[in-house]
Amino acid sequence: MEPRLVTVPEAIPAKCYSTERVGISKATHDNHLTLWKGYANKTNEIRKALAGMEIDPAAANQIYSQMRALKVNYAFAYGGLINHNVYFETIGGDGGPATGDVATLINEAYGSFDHWAADWRATGMAGRGWVFLGYDHDEQRVHTYIGDAQDTFPAWNHTLLLAMDVYEHAYYLDFQTARMKYIEAYMQVIDWSAVNSRIPR
Ligand SMILES: [Fe+2]
Repeated sequence: MEPRLVTVPEAIPAKCYSTERVGISKATHDNHLTLWKGYANKTNEIRKALAGMEIDPAAANQIYSQMRALKVNYAFAYGGLINHNVYFETIGGDGGPATGDVATLINEAYGSFDHWAADWRATGMAGRGWVFLGYDHDEQRVHTYIGDAQDTFPAWNHTLLLAMDVYEHAYYLDFQTARMKYIEAYMQVIDWSAVNSRIPR
């Protein structure tokens, strides 16, 4: 069966370049595009490999096997694509306190925007790759998660509303190792209307 392929991103959304006003540069975004494309291309490569392989359950092995390599790396590749889709979709805005329905969800879950923002900053310093704001369909609440990599640590039955990349490639060019400065800059350019449009209705 022919695999369904993902669309490889061709450009960073134009609105993202407005982040230059807070120090997140065009050069960072342009380099980041190469990585974003890589996740999409590898997603497609793995989908094709899975579609084309002769599946032999007896050959599959948890230590090393073709199936293990493809499935483990698929989660990293497709996870990386989705995380970056959301990252670039939800920056390039005016930042500041949340607006609309996501503001209500944040207040319900965290008591106030300031409390959530402190949690978000701290999670950003505690994570190795990502910070995720997920909408939990079971509890109908939002929760902030650490993502140490492209494929960790989401919970099931969530919609990803906001994703902050804290891998060094997202900030080292502009802020060197001062990650908190990057997080502060990022929080000034969150596009809350884009976040609201991701809330399931
Ligand atoms: Fe990234």
